[in-house]
Amino acid sequence: MHTFTTVAAMQAEARRLKAKGQRLALVPTMGALHDGHLALVQEAKKHADHVAVSIFVNPTQFGPNEDFNRYPRDLGGDMQRLETVGCDAVFAPTVEEMYPFGQQDEAVWVTVEGLDDHLDGPMRPGHFRGVTTVVAKLFHACQPDVAMFGQKDAQQLAILRRMTRALLFPVQIVGLATVRDADGLALSSRNRYLTADERAQAPVLHRALRRIEALVAEGERRVSALIEAGRSEIAAAPLARVQYVAVVDAATLAPVETLAPGQKALAALAVHFGTTRLIDNVSLTVPA
Ligand code: PAJ
Repeated sequence: MHTFTTVAAMQAEARRLKAKGQRLALVPTMGALHDGHLALVQEAKKHADHVAVSIFVNPTQFGPNEDFNRYPRDLGGDMQRLETVGCDAVFAPTVEEMYPFGQQDEAVWVTVEGLDDHLDGPMRPGHFRGVTTVVAKLFHACQPDVAMFGQKDAQQLAILRRMTRALLFPVQIVGLATVRDADGLALSSRNRYLTADERAQAPVLHRALRRIEALVAEGERRVSALIEAGRSEIAAAPLARVQYVAVVDAATLAPVETLAPGQKALAALAVHFGTTRLIDNVSLTVPA
């Protein structure tokens, strides 16, 4: 497994692979890798000859009161984990390499309007602008033919699909289903912040989403009733503080009042346990 830390070296590697006619897949990550990330690498191998994983804790997607400084960093452990799944290359640049003008002064941003008006957008001002900007840079640095993202971050996936098409990046975007622990909790680098008591209660997120799913299957179409049911499920966990429970249209991410026949929707939520913020979602397909 090769490690590249400069954009020039990574671009040279991409050129070398292309000259050999090989397809390159990129799995962008912020490190602290878990089995969800590794599942993306394994899926990537089905779509390309060569898989690169980027590990970069991107400062511009963290708000001033968010966890940039304490975000878990474990490059050594990450490399070991990547070896076990046959990753070919790691791109691990410094902040200076990715933001040559300085992250405050750079003044060049990629923004996708509209899709960040809902869900996490209003809760995390500037977050998605940071994500789209860094992923555009990662695409230029790594020049992948295909890039893998998790449905765990459904809004991020929707925004990045939109960016990729709108900016004509020659990159195929592949989304992968959320990988969960046996008790339903979605794997996340942030789960390691949870205390034992919080961890024990955290599966309530998935239980709430499954309750919403079950009600839709039973014929409930009123979103207010779905949200109410999701919230009351979470209320059973005393350490959980709901930030939002929402049901939105899967394409526009705008809130829905009543589910329509055949509609594709998304039930999504954000919940705090102490200072740790967890998100999760499930796709809802309403029978036609
Ligand atoms: P990070 O949180 O490290 O996640 C990297 C990728 O792994 C994302 O596409 C995310 O959706 C996916 N992922 C996380 N948990 C998952 C799970 N339980 N199952 C399946 N996939 C999962 O998302 C980011 O980093 C950053 O915003 C990034 C896109 C790298 C830009 O900085």
